[in-house]
Amino acid sequence: MSHANQDLIHSTDVLVIGSGAAGLSVALRLAHKGNITVLSKAEVTEGSTFYAQGGIAAVLDENDTVDSHVEDTLIAGAGLCHEDAVRYTVEHSREAIEWLIERGVAFSKEDEHYHLTREGGHSQRRIIHSDDATGKAVSTTLVAAVQAEKTINILENYIAVDLITGDKLGLDHNRCQGAYVLNLAKDRVETIRARFVVLATGGASKVYLYTSNPDVASGDGIAMAWRAGCSVANLEFNQFHPTCLFHPEARSFLITEALRGEGALLRRPNGERFMPEYDERAELAPRDIVARTIDHEVKKYGFDCVYLDISHKEPEFIKSHFPTIYKQCLEFGIDITKDAIPVVPAAHYTCGGVRVDTDSKTDIDGLYAVGEVAFTGLHGANRMASNSLLECLVYAQSAAQHIEQSWDEITIPAILPPWDESQVTDSDEEIVLSHNWHELRQLMWDYVGIVRTDKRLQRAMRRIELLQQEIHEYYSNFKVSNDLIELRNLVLIAELIVKCAMQRKESRGLHFTLDYPERLEHAKDSVLTPN
Ligand code: FAD
Ligand code: SIN
Repeated sequence: MSHANQDLIHSTDVLVIGSGAAGLSVALRLAHKGNITVLSKAEVTEGSTFYAQGGIAAVLDENDTVDSHVEDTLIAGAGLCHEDAVRYTVEHSREAIEWLIERGVAFSKEDEHYHLTREGGHSQRRIIHSDDATGKAVSTTLVAAVQAEKTINILENYIAVDLITGDKLGLDHNRCQGAYVLNLAKDRVETIRARFVVLATGGASKVYLYTSNPDVASGDGIAMAWRAGCSVANLEFNQFHPTCLFHPEARSFLITEALRGEGALLRRPNGERFMPEYDERAELAPRDIVARTIDHEVKKYGFDCVYLDISHKEPEFIKSHFPTIYKQCLEFGIDITKDAIPVVPAAHYTCGGVRVDTDSKTDIDGLYAVGEVAFTGLHGANRMASNSLLECLVYAQSAAQHIEQSWDEITIPAILPPWDESQVTDSDEEIVLSHNWHELRQLMWDYVGIVRTDKRLQRAMRRIELLQQEIHEYYSNFKVSNDLIELRNLVLIAELIVKCAMQRKESRGLHFTLDYPERLEHAKDSVLTPN
């Protein structure tokens, strides 16, 4: 990357915004082509990828088939998956895992063979994993590989504010030209010019009060793409993971679905099992069903939580398969070899996102979206467990291939206007940000959560509009900061989620509304396009 104007303007061949499985994979696959800049708004490993537990779904067992993985995904997706995207992803699953193994990811083995676990919705054992800390193994391996590449430059603590497009510059062609990024260490906005830009910013579950996600999951990529003119789809399908640890000191700690895959049972506080009363697949029903059932039990009987119990298994089995969870729970005084684990659902995964094709191309030339930020059609109305890391890997390759093919047609933009902050001052009242931040996440949890109604959605929208006015005013008058950028994005994400939810006059997958409890015979995606 070359530097000019005292480092205020950078130029690079490919700007990758995000350093999770999606972003790092794109960067590695293009490292031989030119200069790649990877942005991370926090430390390079901080993102959902690092915290992934269960594993990665792939057709690896000799008794498994592509058709079976496709069929399970379609069933979990409740009739809304794009079958071509599902088949494309699953057909590339083995190759994606082999690529990770070649990079050095140490997946768990038993008797010299890779161990495959099970999770909800899967009819086969097909989840390859690294104990119960798969994301950590993937993230640290990919980070090391990226750091070893001379052509890849990682910029930590840089948060992208907005994309620079032809439309914004008044040009005839609305190609993405780069981005404005806030250098958090120097507290100044810099300009990055790029031939190609890849959004790999992860999901938006932080829009909900309770989430399994790290703080970085504030939907920045979806919001930036929308402001730049990209269409988005299916944002009403935010997945709630059924089992997050319920403990006053445990902030967003997940208890992997693989625990249920290996035999853990869900119980009421009195020890009774309840899942068989609701679904014949019991604890291994798809995630939307298990989360909704727990929500129903908790609300109906006034429980604080329900309990996940694996204590009937041998202690050695538990400790060797789930060392991270065993250790973490023990720190909270819960010995999972003896005690049931208190759990509740929490926002976990954004199934919708920026619309892309099989090359990961968005509606804007030169702009790609990969990973949780993107909507490929794979997940339909409910993502099947462990299909998301797979999607990151498969679509990273597609994006890289397309960028490589287009490489010679495009040059780095010669000049871009610098960020203009001549009209803004330092903020006078930070409390506005923290208050609005809390209010937004609380209202999304209360009104746009696991069970919805028209009235709740309307209430949410009225409040979101008020918050938007206030945040917009704040953004126009004050210098940008990390919190302001995230809040501006989150309030937009909230609006888009509610708009998508209002379009859907039925209950399907993760969208359940008391006003339309039935599934329609024919359903389509909820697509939103900027004016
Ligand atoms: P992330 O890994 O979230 O990375 C996002 C990156 O974007 C970060 O580097 C962040 O700093 C950066 N970023 C965001 N906004 C900006 C900005 N404005 N400027 C600069 N940088 C920005 N999936 C599975 O398949 N299997 C599992 O077992 C599994 N377990 C999970 C467990 C937990 C606790 C969680 C939270 C998720 C789990 N998931 C799992 C889901 C999966 O981990 C994520 O969908 C996937 O890791 C997303 O990867 P990503 O690369 O798209 O984004
Ligand atoms: C888990 O380990 O339960 C999470 C898996 C996923 O989100 O795909």
